[in-house]
Amino acid sequence: MCGIVGYIGESKPISFLVETLERLEYRGYDSCGVAYRPKNSLRIILKKRRGKIEGLKKELLSHQFDIGIAHTRWATHGIPNRINAHPHFDCQRHIFVVHNGIVENYKELKKFLLKRGHKFRSQTDTEIIPHLWEEYIKRRKNPLEALFEVVNLLEGSFAIVALVSSLDKIFVVRKDSPLSLGVLKEGFLVASDIPAISFSTKRVVNLADRQVGVISKSSWEVYDFHRRRRYPKVGKVEISSQEVEKGKFAHFMLKEIFEQPQILKSLYSLYTNREEVKFKELNLSKKYLRTLQRIFIFACGTAFHAGFVGKYLLEKYARVSVEIDVSSEARYRSLPIRKEDLVIAISQSGETADTLASVREAKSRGAKLLGICNVLGSTLTREVDTFIPTFAGPEIGVASTKAYTAQVFVLFLFTIYLAKAKGFLTSLQEREILKELRDVSRYQEKILKELDSLRRIAKKFSKFGCFLFLGRGINYPSALEGALKLKEISYIPAEGYPAGEMKHGPIALIDEYRAVVCIAPQDSLYEKMVSNICEIKARKGKILAILTRGDKEIVSLVEEKVFVPKLNNQDLSPLLVAIPLQSFAYFVAKNLGCEIDQPRNLAKSVTVE
Ligand code: G6P
Repeated sequence: MCGIVGYIGESKPISFLVETLERLEYRGYDSCGVAYRPKNSLRIILKKRRGKIEGLKKELLSHQFDIGIAHTRWATHGIPNRINAHPHFDCQRHIFVVHNGIVENYKELKKFLLKRGHKFRSQTDTEIIPHLWEEYIKRRKNPLEALFEVVNLLEGSFAIVALVSSLDKIFVVRKDSPLSLGVLKEGFLVASDIPAISFSTKRVVNLADRQVGVISKSSWEVYDFHRRRRYPKVGKVEISSQEVEKGKFAHFMLKEIFEQPQILKSLYSLYTNREEVKFKELNLSKKYLRTLQRIFIFACGTAFHAGFVGKYLLEKYARVSVEIDVSSEARYRSLPIRKEDLVIAISQSGETADTLASVREAKSRGAKLLGICNVLGSTLTREVDTFIPTFAGPEIGVASTKAYTAQVFVLFLFTIYLAKAKGFLTSLQEREILKELRDVSRYQEKILKELDSLRRIAKKFSKFGCFLFLGRGINYPSALEGALKLKEISYIPAEGYPAGEMKHGPIALIDEYRAVVCIAPQDSLYEKMVSNICEIKARKGKILAILTRGDKEIVSLVEEKVFVPKLNNQDLSPLLVAIPLQSFAYFVAKNLGCEIDQPRNLAKSVTVE
């Protein structure tokens, strides 16, 4: 979702601003813009356009600049066009603002400003910010003082970067939307996420929520919304530039699919000593875990599917009752959350607005909050009581892959930890599960080595206009995730269903023009899957099955198949079947010529409701 950049320092070619903006492209956007002051000039130049940054680049002169702001917009208020693109400015064209988030009370503020004679050009909520600021400057306030007035009037979420044409400063504001400040050798770079900054500096300040920063070429000051000076520390970014580059891969998504075995290996070494699970930093006492009866899991998108796998695991091994819902529903449901319950919030970014809201709601009911999150320092990790990092490294592809398997892996480890604390798992049983968990990364590597057949199958299946993904038990969530991956990046309608529910509706879809992906490893529900497959075959549906290597029965019933290695404990199978499902979606989308890393309309991190 929207990307924000700001720079102040010694003069740099305008390409610097645009290249930093390009590193935020993966978040998803539909238009873009920059405002900058060329060297030795007092005039601010504004360039905006609908579409890709590439086009903007062509419009820009080879100016040197010393102060500038830039933005990629993901439309919320007003269609994607040049006028609605940021930066927005005031009546006098003195104040230029880029904004991420939503100003919820913009309508009433706009009414007030219209009465005061302000002229608006766009349909955006953002445009009220420069006008409101202008209004307070008019009331003889200095710009910073006026900005405090503004931020205290705004409701909703906002990360703002702004410049005032007469000043050698940029202003930044953070509320419920991430913003970080990079300290350069000469000057400062601000951006809505750290990977974009990490190319230019490893020294970063994470602004806290409800903070305002004033940055000049050689210094920075931070205040809270009550005008009190704050002194955030300069931290070190651990991201290497390799992690945020595609390297030899055609797309970030493919690179991230291939990173999964290594991530699971590292998580295994970090959170186990091969004999038992060790969560050294987890702040949940054994006594609390022993008596824990109920868990609520909240997450969105792919993280929700990981949580769904977690539900199956936690109920089976730790024998707790688990309620799961997408955060956008959970936050408004009258859930009977009590203070003795545990709420697990799962999020790659740690910035998803609905997940944060559901966490805040649970907090107000006194529940304990556990985060499972990939971004250290994110809002989620700061708001929960305790969290388990998934350490998957920066995920750039909008379609989540490595974050998913890392979340499932961590949930498996947490399940073992809880089951043991509750006395439902002996040390011997724990060792056995861990032994096979250790092998999962090796199995994933094996699957990755055999992707060629899937490439061919994807080509053949790209012609189908509708897909059904079926799974049972712990692979029902895998079916949901497989369908989500395909629709996200290939735009082919795809539905995930529990196979046993097929007869209650989806079977009506099946004929020779529809494709069905059946996740059918050799588990306790295998025979049931065989029956489902026969039913699809009888209706001429074209089946791609994901099977256990050595399968004898289904293999002869289906159009195409891919194999995953045989497991002793089939509860680990979501970690294996995820690889062919992700890769299938990738190859289909590639075959159809879709924009894989930045699918239309999607955002990597959904920071608005
Ligand atoms: C967006 C992304 C998905 C992601 C979901 C939840 O929809 O496109 O890939 O799964 O948000 O994001 P989170 O950062 O909370 O895991």
